[in-house]
Amino acid sequence: MKTKVTVVGAGNVGATVAQGIALKELADVVLVDIVEGVPQGKSLDMNETAPVEKYDALLRGTNGYDGTENSDIVVITAGLPRKPGMSRDDLLWKNEEIVAGVTREVAKRSPKAILVVVSNPLDAMCEVARRVSGFPRERVIGMAGVLDSARMRCFIAMELNVSVENTHAFVLGGHGDTMVPLPRYSTVAGIPITELISKERIDAIVDRTRTGGAEIVNLLKTSAWYAPGAAAVEMVETILKDKRKILPCAAYLTGEYGINDLYVGVPVKLGSKGIEQIVQIKLTGDEQAALNKSAGAVKELFERLKTGAGATV
Ligand code: LAC
Repeated sequence: MKTKVTVVGAGNVGATVAQGIALKELADVVLVDIVEGVPQGKSLDMNETAPVEKYDALLRGTNGYDGTENSDIVVITAGLPRKPGMSRDDLLWKNEEIVAGVTREVAKRSPKAILVVVSNPLDAMCEVARRVSGFPRERVIGMAGVLDSARMRCFIAMELNVSVENTHAFVLGGHGDTMVPLPRYSTVAGIPITELISKERIDAIVDRTRTGGAEIVNLLKTSAWYAPGAAAVEMVETILKDKRKILPCAAYLTGEYGINDLYVGVPVKLGSKGIEQIVQIKLTGDEQAALNKSAGAVKELFERLKTGAGATV
């Protein structure tokens, strides 16, 4: 295939992203990891599924960055995952170092690529990738809202015993405990869930969405990967096919929603140029206050980053 996506990190999330891209024949994939043998082994294993799954995308595993040149998209999943009891923020400095190093390597080889950041703490890692790459905000996007809203949709469908396909959910804010699920804009077959589910049950769904990542960490003793991987693949597909879907993504805001110079999850129109529009929706006072609180939490993390503003490759 002509289209190339590099996935950095061949752990559970990275491998799931690579597999999803191949299964959907979106691009050839270069899977990068520092652990010798792992990206090569996983790529070969996945290539051997191709005759059965019937796809022609090719995966190639490597321990370096040669071969990643001129990628259309680079998905950054590298970094340490959470362990039980850890918040995403506990990963800050270690993953900052890793994401900065990865960004430096990929940005110089693929200066036109769109970066889709998955590593945690998500909003801060987006900022590290933006600062180090020097890419415009349109091309440095964080995967969080698609995952958080997928979780919320799953819980809504379970609550009402309806098809997940009927559900739609919106989650704004940072990818942390202060994220802002918006029941008013969450629907089943176009009907707001506030018309269908009791307030008490909606509150429970909102809570479960906010702690959805931790729920899985507690079960698996490491971070989730199927839903995060699927969410990143949806972003890759939307970009490569120029679908211009409106998806909640972490975007660098410069005044939208009254927020400046921070990555926060908001609805964006995603297309072949990356973020083509930041969609501003009207929020109630309470919703805006919750978003501001979430932005405040992201700001605190930004202030702890060691990568200076304006640092580029
Ligand atoms: C989660 C991690 C990937 O939410 O942030 O599961």
